[in-house]
Amino acid sequence: MIPVNEPLIGDKEIEYVQDCLRTGWISSAGKYLEEFEQAWAEYCGMRYGIAVSNGTTALHVAIACLDLQPGDEVILPTFTIISCAQAVTYNGAVPVLVDSEPRTWCMDVNQVADKITPRTRAIMPVHIYGHPVDMDPIRSLAEQHGLIVIEDAAEAHGAQYLSSRGQPHQAWHRCGGMSDISVFSFYANKLVTTGEGGMVLTNDPVIAQQARSLRNLCFRSERRFYHTQLGYNFRLTNLQAAIGLAQVERMPETIAKKRWIGDSYTNRLKSISRVQLPVEETWAKQVYWMYGMVLDEITGFSAADFARKLFDEGIETRPFFLGMHEQPVFTEQGLFKGEVYPVAERIARQGLYLPSGLTLTESQLNQVCQAVESILA
Ligand SMILES: Cc1ncc(COP(=O)(O)O)c(C=O)c1O
Repeated sequence: MIPVNEPLIGDKEIEYVQDCLRTGWISSAGKYLEEFEQAWAEYCGMRYGIAVSNGTTALHVAIACLDLQPGDEVILPTFTIISCAQAVTYNGAVPVLVDSEPRTWCMDVNQVADKITPRTRAIMPVHIYGHPVDMDPIRSLAEQHGLIVIEDAAEAHGAQYLSSRGQPHQAWHRCGGMSDISVFSFYANKLVTTGEGGMVLTNDPVIAQQARSLRNLCFRSERRFYHTQLGYNFRLTNLQAAIGLAQVERMPETIAKKRWIGDSYTNRLKSISRVQLPVEETWAKQVYWMYGMVLDEITGFSAADFARKLFDEGIETRPFFLGMHEQPVFTEQGLFKGEVYPVAERIARQGLYLPSGLTLTESQLNQVCQAVESILA
């Protein structure tokens, strides 16, 4: 079976983890935690990094830092993981959805303005499958309306976005480095993994302090076991951070491998008609976190049919996200009633991603392409 993803663990990771074990720094304090937080914040161009237990808790903390009131609204794409929407609902606020843009599958930034109301507090762009969201329009809407931007860069480690294009001050920015708060996941299938893990980044010292406090049960510095606020135990361990630090140090090679995977698949599969492959807009440097494809309905295949056929050929795939507006857990609460998002609905049914992990070999990639070609022939 060719797995959809396998993590790549190098000698450095083993060396750093052994150092934790030898020195006894195995819990949620230690030099690797600090170094990992600093290294990742710096890599993304942000000042503060707050490591947490996973990407879902990173989103939870990020939203909790906003101190939202019941009825406050956060605008996000319907096409994303449930962690984004539930971070909003768990914090007592209301998720407001927009559809995907059909080329990049990221949130359609042209639909955001119409969703802004007097209750809107934040916009949450999510960079999908390694391609950045078009951030400039979001940032200018946020500025205009006094909104916070929370960027979910869980799937776009090291991806870049060209801001202010065509102007003298145009510049490339890393995903997760363009907002008030950004969040990452370091789950085993991410470019940087810590097994399970996540991080919140910000340039704002007040938000950083609040996120640190929420992560660790809101202990107060002046007296231990005295609390004025409720927090969480969302801590990451030094052991996990040791793996993460080694992975951050290897980012250039990781991105090169991901781009090789993406370019190789595209070169090989682009002649097949009736499938849509990932794009790279001129203002983007994408990292192919996962190599997605969307089948045209006239192929007669849904993504589920296609996945079964690939599975029979020894190839593991994953379906695309199912939109938040199609999730019973939300619709049964009366959320998103009657809302229709045609792009997200189509790609949810017709989209899947191919094996895209860092351990994928050229011969495995050829095997995947052959199977795709012969099934769709
Ligand atoms: C866009 C996005 N945000 C958040 C998460 C949640 O991360 P985790 O699985 O580490 O909780 C994921 C997970 O893959 C994700 O894809």
